[in-house]
Amino acid sequence: MLAPDRRSWTELRSALAGRLGAYPQWTSAAVVLLGWLLVSAALPPQPAGVGLAWQAVWGVVLSAWLRLPVWWLAINAGFPAALHGAAALQWPPELFLFAWLALLLVYWTTFSTRVPLYASGPAVWRLMARCLPSGPGARVVDLGSGLGGLALHLARQPGAPSVLGLELAPLPWLLSRCRARWRRSSCRFLRQDYRRHDLAAYDLVLAYLSPAAMPSLWQQLVAQLKPGACFISCEFVFPGQAAVALPGSGLAGVPPLYVWRMGADGVLAAGPGSDLEAVFLKDLPCS
Ligand SMILES: C[S@@+](CC[C@H](N)C(=O)[O-])C[C@H]1O[C@@H](n2cnc3c(N)ncnc32)[C@H](O)[C@@H]1O
Repeated sequence: MLAPDRRSWTELRSALAGRLGAYPQWTSAAVVLLGWLLVSAALPPQPAGVGLAWQAVWGVVLSAWLRLPVWWLAINAGFPAALHGAAALQWPPELFLFAWLALLLVYWTTFSTRVPLYASGPAVWRLMARCLPSGPGARVVDLGSGLGGLALHLARQPGAPSVLGLELAPLPWLLSRCRARWRRSSCRFLRQDYRRHDLAAYDLVLAYLSPAAMPSLWQQLVAQLKPGACFISCEFVFPGQAAVALPGSGLAGVPPLYVWRMGADGVLAAGPGSDLEAVFLKDLPCS
């Protein structure tokens, strides 16, 4: 049995790790700031290298104690040295302001959504194109459409349905709109948070997000998808839910594409359903 003080220490650690683990970015900012305070206020004056080494050790130890994901240990260890190196370059401050503004316009609220911009490639687009719904009035939406490559590709397929891309970050959204106009595409792009968009009207919903976004997206899909509608996620699954990858995905550098279909009974079940499966099995080279 643990001594009372040791047990409360362990409890404190678990409680902190549980609460702060949901916000590793803010926790890490606090770790780095505390490390800087520790070295500059609590320790006697140090040469820069020693101070940075202390901060790196602090970053690793505290991040590990708080059970942050392993890559944050490296970030929190290396960030003070990177900052010091950047300051030593003595570049004009406007350059940093410009870089900050550019990053802000590209990544926007990534610090809270925890979904950064990275594009899927043509191999993914081709597989997704085979899942397009047909029939009059069919509608497709890409949640977090990034630079618009996927949505534009889908919209130019023969007999394509109406395709909408929802994107929160201003610069990727603007670039998507320009690309659509330039190509005279029917594809539309809205600068909107997909969490505020009703998905009830769509036959196919696509997303390439991140593990952090998946739990609340599951709730949204369960509440809003109409019977027969499909949801396809590139790479990421829902924690605790069954997942079935589309045939042909998850191989040779193509990320897995997981598919779920809303049943007539209101249950969102893993798997493409028989019609979509038939499309894939027909086209596979081995069939
Ligand atoms: C990984 S990229 C995917 C880009 C695109 N779908 C593709 O396949 O190339 C994810 C995008 O989702 C956007 N995003 C993240 N959270 C969002 C939200 N709540 N609403 C709208 N867009 C969001 C990000 O800004 C980012 O551009």
